[in-house]
Amino acid sequence: MRYRKFGNTDLALSEVCFGAMRFTSTADHVTLTGERTSQEAEQQNRDGRRAVEAALSGGVNCIHSSGDYGTRWMLSEILAHHPKRKDIHHIIKMTSPDYEEEKFDPQVLRNDVEEALRDLHTDRIAIVQHLQRGPHVPKVEAYAEVGDQRRIDALPEIIGPLQETFAELKKEGKVGHLITFPHTMGYAQAALDSGAYAGVAHFLNLVEPEALEVLDRLEREGKGFLAIRPLLQGMLTDKRVDRDSLPENDLKRRAGWDSRYALLDRIRERIGDPKVSWTTFALQFALAHNAVTSLVASGNNVHQVEAMLEACQGQYPSRELIKTVYDIVEEVGMPPKADLFGL
Ligand SMILES: NC(=O)c1ccc[n+]([C@@H]2O[C@H](COP(=O)([O-])OP(=O)(O)OC[C@H]3O[C@@H](n4cnc5c(N)ncnc54)[C@H](OP(=O)(O)O)[C@@H]3O)[C@@H](O)[C@H]2O)c1
Repeated sequence: MRYRKFGNTDLALSEVCFGAMRFTSTADHVTLTGERTSQEAEQQNRDGRRAVEAALSGGVNCIHSSGDYGTRWMLSEILAHHPKRKDIHHIIKMTSPDYEEEKFDPQVLRNDVEEALRDLHTDRIAIVQHLQRGPHVPKVEAYAEVGDQRRIDALPEIIGPLQETFAELKKEGKVGHLITFPHTMGYAQAALDSGAYAGVAHFLNLVEPEALEVLDRLEREGKGFLAIRPLLQGMLTDKRVDRDSLPENDLKRRAGWDSRYALLDRIRERIGDPKVSWTTFALQFALAHNAVTSLVASGNNVHQVEAMLEACQGQYPSRELIKTVYDIVEEVGMPPKADLFGL
């Protein structure tokens, strides 16, 4: 496993971070087709447990989790006695203010940290990822300009109490770094301008390369970047890259994915198919820029985790490829921003 520094801090994260959003039968953020039997659910949990264990024994030293993923119970079980539990760097999500809420609530930050420390059997959360969905932003405006502007306008009021509570937690030795999970790159720039954040977590993959807009700045300023969903929820894998070959009930056949596959077709026409497998290429693509510290990716079984570890072998595409893909996406148009979970 290879490790990269988180910006200019002394935190070294493995190039793959285990994304804990999907690996149990109880995962709340996963849209599934059809009911599962209890045997299938148990099998999924066994596979998920082995996936985490394979990741840790393969050198993965960071886990991205959230109390609202519905999967913490399994991490808690695994980490209670795991010999590496003290060496793991945890990244947790913290949301405040949420959509319609009026202001940032310091108690949410404190509660999320305390809950994570307890459930993950650790003394310190390495990175808290702040998601600001409000204030006064109804869900329908979540990705609209008006909602975005309201979030940016509220930043000056949020930053003070956020930094104050974070500094208290840091003094208590409970947290390391605070980063932002922005909805848009406009918000990302404003959040970075505030000086409160040591880095950014955002989607980065072939179909969603917009984070390129902040990567050079992060590198210049010595800040870190976590590349979320490098496989675009499994679309950018050998199994799903050719949509026609998918079974009728595969979620990626739904209309919500049309514009993403159309865009991928254009990208494939222009850059050609990779010499390595699509899964490997998609993972390596997201590591092509030096500002990227780690890929936050979900592995549901040992096979998927091993493929991820193998892909991170140190030979990555040039960062110019991200720019080429970014330009194609600009030209064709980004698919509408939306939560992909219900699509
Ligand atoms: N707001 C946020 O902070 C936020 C939002 C979204 C995600 N996240 C984090 O990012 C992580 C990753 O997000 P994600 O799961 O949406 O996207 P992802 O990591 O890009 O895609 C994961 C999916 O790809 C497939 N896959 C994984 N490894 C594979 C391999 N080697 N070969 C073939 N297929 C493979 C699996 O799907 P199948 O098993 O179905 O094939 C898996 O569920 C989450 O766990 C979470 O920690 C954070």
